[in-house]
Amino acid sequence: MGGANWLRWPWWLGVVIVGAVIGTRFVCGGGGSANASRYEEALVSRIAFGSCANQTAPQPIWSAITKFNPQVFIWMGDNIYGDIKRPLKLFGKERTIGPWKNVPRFVPASEQEMKSKYNIIKNNPDYSRLRQIAKVIGTWDDHDYGLNDAGKEFPAKVTNQRLLLDFLDEPQDSPRRKQAGVYTSYTFGPVGRQIKIILLDTRYHRDPLSSDGSILGSTQWTWLEKELKGPSSAITIIVSSIQVISNLSATTGPLFSMESWGRFPKERGRLFKLIADSKRDGVFFISGDVHFGEITRYDCTVGYPLYDITSSGLTQAVEKVVPTPLHFMVIFLAWLTPSTMRVMGPNCRFRSCTYGQQNFGAVEIDWDASPVAMKIEVRDTDGILVTGVNISLSELQAHSMNSTATSKVGKDQRHCSLEVSLPWIVRYRLAIFLYCFVAVLLAALVGVTFVAVSVFTLCLRKCKLD
Ligand SMILES: *[C@@H]1O[C@H](CO)[C@@H](O)[C@H](O)[C@H]1NC(C)=O
Ligand SMILES: *[C@@H]1O[C@H](CO)[C@@H](O)[C@H](O)[C@H]1NC(C)=O
Ligand SMILES: *[C@@H]1O[C@H](CO)[C@@H](O)[C@H](O)[C@H]1NC(C)=O
Repeated sequence: MGGANWLRWPWWLGVVIVGAVIGTRFVCGGGGSANASRYEEALVSRIAFGSCANQTAPQPIWSAITKFNPQVFIWMGDNIYGDIKRPLKLFGKERTIGPWKNVPRFVPASEQEMKSKYNIIKNNPDYSRLRQIAKVIGTWDDHDYGLNDAGKEFPAKVTNQRLLLDFLDEPQDSPRRKQAGVYTSYTFGPVGRQIKIILLDTRYHRDPLSSDGSILGSTQWTWLEKELKGPSSAITIIVSSIQVISNLSATTGPLFSMESWGRFPKERGRLFKLIADSKRDGVFFISGDVHFGEITRYDCTVGYPLYDITSSGLTQAVEKVVPTPLHFMVIFLAWLTPSTMRVMGPNCRFRSCTYGQQNFGAVEIDWDASPVAMKIEVRDTDGILVTGVNISLSELQAHSMNSTATSKVGKDQRHCSLEVSLPWIVRYRLAIFLYCFVAVLLAALVGVTFVAVSVFTLCLRKCKLD
């Protein structure tokens, strides 16, 4: 036993390992568990976000986004259109609509095809420029998950998770690559001025539509509860690929329906209850999916207004589906569709306060204002506001609204009553209008035919008489 024996014992190795573990915990702000939050200390005051980007369509939106100069950019899903869309065909060998439809409208692409679609967007020079100036993070929706409206039953989800994480430059050893689903969280900024961004996965564990089952699945729920009840942050942004507050389907039925948390009322109630129970202030949602932009707000659930800023259509926007001279029709129909949650204001581009052309979302925070002030906007391809709100952070605190007052004024006020509780004549006015319109057209057609036939027979008779 020499005096230098201690050197042979690897106790110092223990110190190094313990030191490294403590260091990692400190840097990551949460430890090495599978879903640890990532942490970066630089102050963040500009965040951009968007969804629904067709990789082969022109993408002029990127230059508007880089001009906004965000520090963080968030992909909210449909980052590529990975699945293959067959053309609408009523007749022929492959019929994609009608009661005699014999093939599905959407089919999954191969792994190779998915990869090359991601490569197209990653090689876009304007998007590359954005990657140089901003930290790019994201989640997915159905078309990059691999199939329109797909949920937990979709078999290619494991492969496609890897492809999305490759696209987002997720490190090879990241725990996010080993978990089931792409949910994760980030915290940016120094203590006191932190922004937590929680990215949900609304696909990997989602039960069938109209099952009123789960969207997140039990493991993700446990994780989310830990995230929301964990260390506080000045601002918490919850990213959901589908809308959380608006329940568009309630007012567009029976014409068409959209995916949303509203279609899973139990799951939606659980989300609001979790936010309320966590006593977390400064929470708002951002969402995509619907191919237009709007801001909605729900006042009667967590003690302060819960905003949902929807930006959809980095390239895929509703007005693209009709020729330019008919854009007024889309704007008119958007105006006609009732909404109890939409934030209206004089600054909107259109009266409806929705925007059906290409757009992105922008959050700007003035940390030096007292109280801290936020500008949350949806902007067009020139970077100009189409709908927006100015919120002071003190409005997003549980004591900011008198809860007994709101419960008394109650369910009829704007931003409080659900779409489903609208009087039926208001709730279904879009369908009523369209059915009436078609009825009038048909009646006119019948009338014109009747007159034509009458005139013809009259002539015929007259000719015979002569
Ligand atoms: C994407 O854009 C291309 C080119 O404009 C178009 O041919 C294709 O149909 C679009 N894909 C989808 C899913 O809309
Ligand atoms: C949303 O609308 C659908 C369709 O009308 C309805 O079944 C569902 O209960 C609504 N959800 C909420 C939260 O109102
Ligand atoms: C927000 O405030 C700015 C001034 O700081 C103003 O120019 C802008 O119009 C406001 N936006 C909205 C949506 O009211």
